[in-house]
Amino acid sequence: MDDTTKRAASAAARIEQDSQTSSQKSGEAFVAYMDDSVDSGSSSLTGKDHQSTSAKALDRWFKERQKNHSAPRLLEVPNEALVTNGGPLQITGNITMVLEDGSVQYANHLSLCRCGHSGTKPNCDGQHLDKEFLHPGKISEVSEIAASQRPSKITISCIKDGPITFRGRLRMHNQFGQECVKMRGSLCRCGQSASKPFCDGSHSKTGFKTG
Ligand code: FES
Repeated sequence: MDDTTKRAASAAARIEQDSQTSSQKSGEAFVAYMDDSVDSGSSSLTGKDHQSTSAKALDRWFKERQKNHSAPRLLEVPNEALVTNGGPLQITGNITMVLEDGSVQYANHLSLCRCGHSGTKPNCDGQHLDKEFLHPGKISEVSEIAASQRPSKITISCIKDGPITFRGRLRMHNQFGQECVKMRGSLCRCGQSASKPFCDGSHSKTGFKTG
C-alpha cells in the first residue's frame, strides 16, 4: 500500500469512527468523508482504482442521502462555489452539510451567508442587502490543485462562532473570471476576514457569534 493509499484509508477510518459516534449522538446517519486527494494528480494509483474510489464515495453518498426525505439528486457535475458580488457563497454539488449541533443535511444547492448577519445561519436570508456588505467576491488565493470535470462529493462543516470548513474538491469562481480549486479549506462567514472568501481568524477578534 503506498503512502497516498494509506493516508486515504486512515482518513476514511478516522471519519468512519467519528461518524459512528456522531450517529449515536444525533440518531442520524453520517456520510463518511472519502478523502479523494488521489484526484490531485500526485497519486500513483491507476485510473481504474482512481475512478473506483470516487465512484464508491459517490455511491455511498447516494445511498445515505436516500435515507433522508426530500434528499437531493446525485449530480454528475463537479462541486462549484460562486463567490457573489456583495452576497452569499452559492455552492452547487453533492453536498453533505454538518451543522453545529452535529445534525446532517444533504443538498445540491446552498446559499451560504458571507456577511455574518443572517438570522438563518449558515444560510443567507438577504441581510447582506440591509447591512450593505460590499465585498465584490474577489478571491484572495490561487488554486492548489487542477480543476476536474468529474463529479465528487463535498462535506461542509459549520464551526460554532467560526468559519465553514469544506473537504472535497471545490472550484470557487467569481464575476471577474478568477478561480481557485482546493481540496479543503475554511471559508469566512463573519464578513470580517481580510482574505475573503477564506477565513483569516478575524472572527475570534471580533467576537463573532453564530447562534
Ligand atoms: S469566519 Fe470570518 S475570519 Fe473566520
